[in-house]
Amino acid sequence: MTSPKKLFIKTFGCQMNVYDSERMAEALGGEGYVETKSQEDADMILLNTCHIREKAVEKVYSDLGRLKKFKEAKPDLKIGVAGCVAQAEGGEIMRRQPLVDLVVGPQSYHRLPEMEALIQQGKRALDTDFPEEDKFEKLKARPKAPRGPTAFLTVQEGCDKFCAFCVVPYTRGAEVSRPVTRILDEARNLVERGVREITLLGQNVNAYHGAGPKGTDYTLAQLIWELDKVDGLERIRFTTSHPNDMTDELIEAHGNCAKLMPYLHLPVQSGSDHILKRMNRSHTAESYLRVIERIRAARPDIVLSGDFIVGFPEETEAHFQETLDLVEQVKYGYAYSFKYSTRPGTPAAERALVDAAEADDRLQRLQALITKHQREIQDCMIGREVSVLFEKPGRDEGQMVGKSEYLHAVHVANANAQVGDIAKVRIVDAGTNSLKGELLS
Ligand code: SAH
Ligand code: SF4
Ligand code: F3S
Repeated sequence: MTSPKKLFIKTFGCQMNVYDSERMAEALGGEGYVETKSQEDADMILLNTCHIREKAVEKVYSDLGRLKKFKEAKPDLKIGVAGCVAQAEGGEIMRRQPLVDLVVGPQSYHRLPEMEALIQQGKRALDTDFPEEDKFEKLKARPKAPRGPTAFLTVQEGCDKFCAFCVVPYTRGAEVSRPVTRILDEARNLVERGVREITLLGQNVNAYHGAGPKGTDYTLAQLIWELDKVDGLERIRFTTSHPNDMTDELIEAHGNCAKLMPYLHLPVQSGSDHILKRMNRSHTAESYLRVIERIRAARPDIVLSGDFIVGFPEETEAHFQETLDLVEQVKYGYAYSFKYSTRPGTPAAERALVDAAEADDRLQRLQALITKHQREIQDCMIGREVSVLFEKPGRDEGQMVGKSEYLHAVHVANANAQVGDIAKVRIVDAGTNSLKGELLS
């Protein structure tokens, strides 16, 4: 019997890429590959790339350069590039980097088995189509291998919003939602394999409108209520949402659905209406704040997170102050902030840049404010009772680490629990990035 070939995948970018990497590993599993954590051991190395900010392409080339010595040591080694850089620059990568055997875009990785067969014959394979067939349907045979307690599940992909700075509509294509029954099947499969918390993924997940079992489309809220009925599934989350698609029904689910966790990532990008308009965000700071108000009315203890871009073309100090004001008003539990990065092919790419030092300075000030709030919110948790889903053993004997319903990392000493258990915990101490708790039940 031949021993299985070994696959090493390096994943960059968003959670959807994490999910895609799992599915690619499964697709190649049928071709006799098992995953390895060591590049040295690998028979195939796959870089699953992200194109969202600058230097993405340079990073891929420098990574590929590093892989040269592996290929020299093992001429049979196959090297592939997947993900959003593959989609955007696939042909160019093939031309510039002869050691690449395979390039596959995010919409065509269900064709990996055929592509693998090609490269085994010494050919090169490139597929960056947006095919008609449903890649998820082609990948339907899910294995029975046990899983950890949390999982991602892509329900919607692509984006029709075309924010002026963003490559996603080009790399992931138009918005497509998966049918409800397929998602439920996949969720049940995950639960059978040990999963207790599922995070539904989509670039615009709250715009989900997948074919329902009765012939009409379901909204994300309806999908969540269907998942609520899945026995053994204890927690539901979703990300990422657009403020304009936060419907009343979805907000109500945050109030009424016990399995839907009180945490919401709702990017706003800027607090300035002028900049939001130039970003083509199609909402204002005020309309965003009103959405937050409605969410907090439905679920007062919800923890919010967001994304921000500073130094977008035309952003002045006064515009930036409006962003700080918005952050001050919302008080995020977490937030991600980025310096604007020009993406070729996007509408904003032609515009004059804000002074780089100025943008750096704004980023620092914004991050300082966000961190201050994050710390305050973590401190507020002291004395409170939370439920923790244990994900792994901690460093100390008997310690377990997991996530609260608010997505805070919680360390519990002498937990006397298994991975996958959910326990009541009282928070006794807080740091900026994690909490300490004591077991109650
Ligand atoms: N679909 C999600 C997230 C898209 S990408 C949404 O609509 O919110 C994740 C984050 O990367 C964005 O929210 C934005 O803050 C940031 N981002 C996207 N393009 C960027 C660019 N060109 N420069 C800097 N940050 C960017
Ligand atoms: Fe990009 Fe905007 Fe679509 Fe989000 S909504 S993926 S930021 S274009
Ligand atoms: Fe990056 Fe593509 Fe995700 S560009 S953020 S990997 S959708």
